[in-house]
Amino acid sequence: MSAPENSGCYPELESLPRDEGGPVFAEPWQAQAFAMAVRLSERGYFTWTEWAAALAAELAAAAERGEADDGSEYYQHWLAALEGLVTAKGLTDVAALFERREAWADAYRHTPHGKPVELRPGFRVSYAYRQSPLHSVTRADGVTKQIRIQDGHLFVCNGCCCGQTGKGFPALALEEFKSQWKKRGIRRRLHLTISGCLGPCPLANVVLLQFRGSSMWFHSINQAGDVDLIYDYVERMLVAESVMEPPSELSARLFERYQERSSIQAGA
Ligand code: FES
Repeated sequence: MSAPENSGCYPELESLPRDEGGPVFAEPWQAQAFAMAVRLSERGYFTWTEWAAALAAELAAAAERGEADDGSEYYQHWLAALEGLVTAKGLTDVAALFERREAWADAYRHTPHGKPVELRPGFRVSYAYRQSPLHSVTRADGVTKQIRIQDGHLFVCNGCCCGQTGKGFPALALEEFKSQWKKRGIRRRLHLTISGCLGPCPLANVVLLQFRGSSMWFHSINQAGDVDLIYDYVERMLVAESVMEPPSELSARLFERYQERSSIQAGA
């Protein structure tokens, strides 16, 4: 399959958002990401077959994670596929991508409303990007698979009570949890799961943060600002690479859920 030069229809990209005139974009960055993939393929950095396979793999992984297949996230997957392919081809590396993403996030945070967003000279990220290490695990059927060892896991309860305004509980800032997780570039170090009922329903809205072997339960995580607090706390621990005390705004919402931890040996 050669690069789809000016064909405009891209039949191999089945779920590409399009109308009769060709691809359609909700935001300018989507058009830029699209053009970048086409241009890199045209210039021979990868074949269009490789591109279609990389994108299909991202879409399949998203489906496996249970993400909605309504097209709204299509260009997030496009971007993830593009980042994966350009790093696999050695055109850049994950650390450089991470630094650039952080630089734009910093620029956005420091730009007054209505002004053009520009990178700040001399910006440096506060912690080095690192890939979570891989670990081999042999399944019961004898097949060995590699999994990433992550720093943590955030469970956000979206069960029978959390977020259920009809039952008198506060609304849940669910989209904020998802969008910040992606924007902050921490996906390979902290896994996010939107879960069913976690148990302590009367304390809705509940999140469970597991970080480097410690479990922290928080209640009343209701507003977008509360989500900021959770992720800021996670990022501080990622910088320190260790478990830390939560900030005072969160410690008031910390509660015990488990008996004292006893250790087990992996694979024992
Ligand atoms: S629904 Fe959230 S703890 Fe039960």
